[in-house]
Amino acid sequence: MKEFKNKVMFITGAGHGFGKVIAEEGARRGMKLALVDIDEPALTATAKAIEATGAQVLAIPADVTKEELVTKAIDQAMAKYGAIDLLVNDAGIALAGRMWELPTRDWEWILHANVLSQVYSMRKVIPIMLKQETRGTILNVSSIAGLVDTPGMPAYHASKFASVGMTEATAYDLQRANSGIEMHVMCPGFVQTDLYHTEQHRPAQYSDPSDPYYQSEAFKKGQQVAKYVITTGMPIDTIAATVFKALEDNEFYILTHPQFNPLILDRVNRIVNHKAPDVHVMDGLM
Ligand SMILES: NC(=O)c1ccc[n+]([C@@H]2O[C@H](COP(=O)([O-])OP(=O)(O)OC[C@H]3O[C@@H](n4cnc5c(N)ncnc54)[C@H](O)[C@@H]3O)[C@@H](O)[C@H]2O)c1
Repeated sequence: MKEFKNKVMFITGAGHGFGKVIAEEGARRGMKLALVDIDEPALTATAKAIEATGAQVLAIPADVTKEELVTKAIDQAMAKYGAIDLLVNDAGIALAGRMWELPTRDWEWILHANVLSQVYSMRKVIPIMLKQETRGTILNVSSIAGLVDTPGMPAYHASKFASVGMTEATAYDLQRANSGIEMHVMCPGFVQTDLYHTEQHRPAQYSDPSDPYYQSEAFKKGQQVAKYVITTGMPIDTIAATVFKALEDNEFYILTHPQFNPLILDRVNRIVNHKAPDVHVMDGLM
């Protein structure tokens, strides 16, 4: 994607973190925005701040774990702007917790929030992009956790590997269909955002405070680790510039932390050599 002026960005997760700074950068480049988030006060704050710069903004409070709400949000954006040029699937959550401890409802929540939300919007937006005259671009936000594994968060890895896999597979199908639609998957390492406040975005349908897991040491430890890795991550200031440069250069994988490249290579080597994961590989890195 080379031209941004007057193009329409539909972005989820615009209330905080990556979504917010990508939306702000889009506005700086003259884009019209449709912003979605479950956190209505944060969404309104982002929308008002961007509107004050003179950009056109539509703020749509919605829970992206629900297909009907994603569909409705896209309909609202189409009714206002008549096109979607850049779809950014950024809304997401992070949950720590070992396979035998994390409740099934939390697995369902993270797979809906991080994977199915991207499915819902792509299933709706790709047919729109195929019909419209301007070339479409789709950016799915995954994570370095979609390329390499670490201990303690199998559900997060499952969701992020799924996001990478379905983005790659969809890119093949869009190439075969000669669609002209450009696909990107963003795979950052830890960055200072609000991601450790995931519990504040837990939809009611995935909530059961009576489950003793949420009082357990395992749960508390997961929260502490999430807070530590996010608050000690890379500052967010360069992220939007990195994303837009990658869109301009049509880079498929958007990577922000080259220090993790050896882990990616190690994983590929282990696969082709039939070797089991080795937890010591990431000593000193995580
Ligand atoms: N921060 C990091 O270190 C990091 C690293 C790799 C990948 N990521 C990914 O980046 C994406 C954005 O996360 P972030 O770090 O900016 O965190 P963040 O918490 O600052 O932003 C995520 C946004 O998604 C919204 N959201 C959560 N659940 C939602 C739902 N059901 N419906 C609608 N909106 C919802 C939140 O309200 C929030 O505004 C996520 O997919 C995350 O997994 C983050």
